[in-house]
Amino acid sequence: MCGIFGYAGKRSDALEIVFEGLKDLEYRGYDSWGVAVVPENNNGNGRIVVKKKAGKIGRSSIDDLPQGTLALGHTRWATHGGATESNAHPHLDCTGTIALVHNGIFENYESIKKELLKKGHTFTSETDTEVAVHLVEEYAKTMTFHEAVRRTFNKMDGLNAIIVFRVNDHELVVARNGSPLIIGFSKKENFVASDAAALVPHTKIVHFLEDGQMAIIRDNTVSILHAKNGKPIQPIKHKLSWSIAQTEKGKYRYFMLKEINEQPKIVRDIASTLSQAEKLAKVIKKFRNVYLMGCGSASYVSLAGSYLFSQIAKYPINWAIGSEFWHQLKFLTKNDLVIALSQSGETMDTLEPIKEAKIQGAKIIAIVNVLGSTLYREADYKILIGAGPEKSVASTKAVTGKLAHLIALSYAFSGKSKEGKALLMEAAKSSEMVLESKNITRIKLLAKRLKNTRHIYIVGRGLSYPASLETAMKLKEISYIHAEGMAAGELKHGPLALVEKGTPCIVFIPNDELYSANLASAMEMKARGGMIIGVSYKNHDIFDYYLPVVDAREATIIPNIITGQALAYYLTILRGLDPDKPRNLAKSVTVK
Ligand code: G6P
Repeated sequence: MCGIFGYAGKRSDALEIVFEGLKDLEYRGYDSWGVAVVPENNNGNGRIVVKKKAGKIGRSSIDDLPQGTLALGHTRWATHGGATESNAHPHLDCTGTIALVHNGIFENYESIKKELLKKGHTFTSETDTEVAVHLVEEYAKTMTFHEAVRRTFNKMDGLNAIIVFRVNDHELVVARNGSPLIIGFSKKENFVASDAAALVPHTKIVHFLEDGQMAIIRDNTVSILHAKNGKPIQPIKHKLSWSIAQTEKGKYRYFMLKEINEQPKIVRDIASTLSQAEKLAKVIKKFRNVYLMGCGSASYVSLAGSYLFSQIAKYPINWAIGSEFWHQLKFLTKNDLVIALSQSGETMDTLEPIKEAKIQGAKIIAIVNVLGSTLYREADYKILIGAGPEKSVASTKAVTGKLAHLIALSYAFSGKSKEGKALLMEAAKSSEMVLESKNITRIKLLAKRLKNTRHIYIVGRGLSYPASLETAMKLKEISYIHAEGMAAGELKHGPLALVEKGTPCIVFIPNDELYSANLASAMEMKARGGMIIGVSYKNHDIFDYYLPVVDAREATIIPNIITGQALAYYLTILRGLDPDKPRNLAKSVTVK
């Protein structure tokens, strides 16, 4: 979590560049933000100028700060110490001449802090991060600055990424272990950020820093080193394919709305990549056991993937939530395959089991959206989702992108790629219809009715079960309404007790062999006074509200999920909340 951005160049608006970079990274955490710059006219004896504030960047400005050609910044998701101004990064050493930003958890900070206190250092925050900058200060008394940063970094237990600079050295020293850092190369200026998308406005040539690597970034050179021994490493330069337009909101008020609307095209694009699915389907066939695994929305896609493989490919695949995978993990061998799903490719609870699975000899397929992410690099085989940068904290287009790839894979597995392609095209069309204005008007009307409701129940069987879980997740995370998704068959085993007059109940009822069973669940809720919201290819008398979704067989899960996303979005807007940055959450969850 947390976003970090640094600039070393010749432009005196370094701070502005960093500030804009932070806005691009804010989805990683928005409890507070802060920037630091070396003022241009410091004549070799100045101090670093810092501005930091609690809360989101919003309409804040940095016009009151001096110009400078070296700057760094941070946007925080709080771990150690509350979301206050004094706990915001950057943190300074005792002399005010060294600034540091940090992403991760410095696990052994307490013991080091005790030693530094004995040596006379004074601390102004409750953070683990501040300890690191004082340690750099201490080491730098007797060695070069970058050597001091290297030593400090090697002392830090846990998964961390840092950027540090000192007032008189025109360089950023950065290091990574666990938390992502990407270096961007340009002419007479270089950059570093915790996400490649934030670099796109400046450069597309990047090096993805590996765990245990550090770099010294100056305006005209970048040296990459092993953090352990300081030995040099040749950078591996990649070219990013994302465009600036893809990283911006464009005509949309929020990223989430933009991302919801991009989905039909993404599904169509995926339908045109048959050869990739065919190649990987052959890989899957070589293994004894196959597991689909991910966290949050990606875990629901994993569940849907296991249903898709059994329905379409007649092949059983296990699924698991990343943080719960450990009990299957211990049985993995070289005959097993794990398909890990992740938008960011940086989710800790997905990466940890992957690393363990590799140790046990299992092979990994990643279905991931971010090129060069940790999961991308760890995997033996990879599918890039191709959804473009996803900025809204709540995942939308990466979810349906993953589903589209799994549908393509299941059809390729059964030797029916073309049928899979045709189905995805139907799903894209049906998704487009969900987003047509007359349909959105229905969704908005329903949102008005639900605006002040406290609980919503969402049910479905088969593929409509993961669709229900995903819809409930979207409603919870952005509208803050308690929503519960469940297998429709489970209703009568407990949750039905909560249904009373007027309780909103969303039921997914696609045109599949479970139609009557799904309808029966709707009737059970109706009989207890439930307000039935039917999401189906045809209307029914028992529906109080009807949201039409044109059928696309197994791929109907895609427009069904999009219907849930749109409802969550418009409810959130009506409730006056920010759908892109829900409270307490962050997009890239790099802590346990
Ligand atoms: C966060 C996001 C979710 C996402 C989950 C997994 O919690 O807010 O929308 O589903 O992380 O993220 P991943 O990047 O691994 O798909």
